[in-house]
Amino acid sequence: MPNLNAAIITVSDKGSRGERSDTSGPALCAILEADGWTIVHTEIVSDDLPNIEAALVHCSDTLKVPLTLTTGGTGFTQRDNTPEATKAVIERETPGFPELMRAESFKLTPNGILSRAVAGIRGGTIIINLPGSERAARECLGFILKPLKHAIVMTAHDSVEHN
Ligand code: MTE
Repeated sequence: MPNLNAAIITVSDKGSRGERSDTSGPALCAILEADGWTIVHTEIVSDDLPNIEAALVHCSDTLKVPLTLTTGGTGFTQRDNTPEATKAVIERETPGFPELMRAESFKLTPNGILSRAVAGIRGGTIIINLPGSERAARECLGFILKPLKHAIVMTAHDSVEHN
């Protein structure tokens, strides 16, 4: 049975100041839990690049969760730093997740391509950016949920080497 622990990081200036309640993070938790995952860590961080990087590194290097999802900060505004923070900490990109999310999202709304979400691997952790609105985050996690378990089994620190 694979380790199905996960962390959810909500990236939002207003959320981090308590000026907006976070509904996206709890929605993602509920979807993962219904799929058999255990959420071991949730956090709301501001859009400051170093804060996002530190939260991602904590989940990978200290908590060693197989999966970290972020929600928010993937758009085009000056404060949307989540993709840059993710790129700074990952060792390898896993472009299939954002490719699928944008392709499927575009079928629902042309705005679906406005997420600059990236995904990748740091150590034994897969990190995936999702958009910030609850609906968009739900939709995007739904698109990528199926292959996630196979992905984390391959990424695990103790996975058997393939020749
Ligand atoms: N993806 C889906 N499935 N549904 C949506 O409504 N909204 C888009 C996009 N992705 C959307 C979506 C919009 S309007 C933006 S600006 C980007 O996600 C970035 O969102 P973020 O800055 O909250 O991360």
